[in-house]
Amino acid sequence: MQFPETPGPAPEENELLYDAEYKEMLNAYNKVQYLYEAGIAFVRGRLETLNNEFRVRHSHNPIHHIQSRVKTPQSITLKLRKMGVPVSMTNAKKNLRDIAGVRVICCYVEDIFTVARLLTSQDDVQLIEEKNYIKHPKDNGYRSLHLVVDVPVYLSGAKVFIPVEVQIRTVAMDFWASLEHNLRYKAEDEVPQFIVDELKGCADVITETDARMEQIFHAMLLLRDTAPGGDAPYTGGA
Ligand code: GTP
Ligand code: MG
Repeated sequence: MQFPETPGPAPEENELLYDAEYKEMLNAYNKVQYLYEAGIAFVRGRLETLNNEFRVRHSHNPIHHIQSRVKTPQSITLKLRKMGVPVSMTNAKKNLRDIAGVRVICCYVEDIFTVARLLTSQDDVQLIEEKNYIKHPKDNGYRSLHLVVDVPVYLSGAKVFIPVEVQIRTVAMDFWASLEHNLRYKAEDEVPQFIVDELKGCADVITETDARMEQIFHAMLLLRDTAPGGDAPYTGGA
């Protein structure tokens, strides 16, 4: 599945095709794209196994759904140009850690931290970077946990490590981020302050709703676990 990218609308491919730098990058991109797809498949596989285990052991799916994408050559070009770096796949590898991207949409806030802990504690998954926009939301109200992990990809004669950006958020955080992203890119000029304030207000309501939904979830677990013949207690948590 695709998910939108932040650095604005990418130039049309046919606009770029006359650009020698871009054409060369595109050639190199086509030769390595499968590595990023393999990195994504690795992370998705690990997450799906964890989710299945939770379903069987705790009758709970911490993961609501997963999306992933390999960054398009247009988007790579735009991002490198914004950074003032010459466009090439070598520079993309050096400067961008989100060429492979996985977005994990969880049910509850505590599931985010459970998923992050279980994924990064696997001994072939190396945590490179963590940005906790849940503990420290962005000024506009954006919340998510961002990780960059290096994962191994086995080739016929080598093992290579591929960085994968993993964004983990609740359904509610995702709802806000998706709409905010769409609104921002619909706006032709800068978004006016009253819209910025309104979006921040919605983010605050969503934060509170996430907390209340988690309380409801715990109340239901308690009911289930104290009922005769109930399931084993669920022991997830941040
Ligand atoms: P880029 O990777 O260049 O975007 O910047 P960065 O390295 O500072 O990225 P960061 O980890 O803060 O965010 C990377 C990604 O998170 C973006 O590409 C978006 O998918 C998402 N993101 C970050 N901030 C926002 C935001 O304010 N609104 C929305 N909708 N998404 C955001
Ligand atoms: Mg980034």
